[in-house]
Order: sequence, then C-alpha cells, then structure tokens
Amino acid sequence: MSPRYALMAAAFVAAVFTASRSEILAQAPIPGFEPQLEDIETFPAGPGREETFYGCTACHAFKLVAAQGMTGQLWDETIQVMIDKHKMNEPTQTDRAAMIAYLEKHYPPRTPRGGWQNPFAQ
Ligand code: HEC
Repeated sequence: MSPRYALMAAAFVAAVFTASRSEILAQAPIPGFEPQLEDIETFPAGPGREETFYGCTACHAFKLVAAQGMTGQLWDETIQVMIDKHKMNEPTQTDRAAMIAYLEKHYPPRTPRGGWQNPFAQ
C-alpha cells in the first residue's frame, strides 16, 4: 500500500470512527460534555471556504478532505471522482473553481521540510 493510500484509508477510518462515536455519545451524554458537529470556522478562512465545506460535507466529514494534500489538478480530479463515482451534484463552474482554489491554497501537497528524504539512505 502506498503511503498516500494508507493516509487516505486512515483518514476515512478516523472519519467513520468519529461519526459513530458521536452517535454513541448522543445516546449517553457525558455530563459537561457537548458533542460537536464539525464547525466551518475551525477550517482556514478564505475565499471558497463556504462552497467547499458545504459542498463536501453533504456526504462526509470535512476532516476526510482536510487530511489530504494535493495539487490543484489532483483536487480537480478528486471532485470529478466525487461526481462520477459518488453522484455528487455537479457544482457550477464558478463554485468548482472556488473549491479548487481553496483546496489548492490550504491543502497543498505535503513534503517534509528539506524535501523528500530517502528513509533508507541513513
Ligand atoms: C455525493 C457524495 C459526496 C460528495 C458531495 C463528496 N464526496 Fe468525497 N467521498 C464520497 C464517498 C462515498 C467517499 C468514500 C471513499 C471512496 O469510496 O472513494 C468519498 C471519499 C473522499 C475522499 C477520500 C479519498 C478517496 O478518493 O476515496 C476525498 C479526498 C474526498 N472524498 C474529497 C471530496 C471533496 C474535496 C468533496 C467536495 C468538493 C467531496 N469529496 C464531496 C462521497 C462524496
């Protein structure tokens, strides 16, 4: 399994786990603890946040999105997968461009500081 896939799988499992856990908490409230839904305000402010957050959380946690880091082109392809495979409503061109710009800016590909290091080279 490639590290990127492992990361995606982990994020998905985390999102599912979080969802079922909050359902359990909703049934048996712990005194003084308020289970929270995801709050748009906890994600980076900027143009395109509304379109992206509400567009993507129609189906899954935004955490699943925020756990990724991709180029604009890969974000665009991811949106296409959501449309083709998962029946996401096709956003307008304006909304789609706003989503891609937001995702590209705030969730770019992550490279370790100093660039990629060969872990076997040490
Ligand atoms: C109509 C439902 C729907 C919408 C809307 C939606 N997704 Fe998804 N998404 C899914 C499903 C279902 C999965 C489950 C994993 C799978 O099978 O790919 C998923 C998984 C993902 C994943 C995990 C990696 C992967 O490819 O499986 C990413 C990243 C993702 N979505 C991004 C987005 C983004 C970004 C948006 C908003 C622009 C979005 N999704 C909107 C249904 C949706």
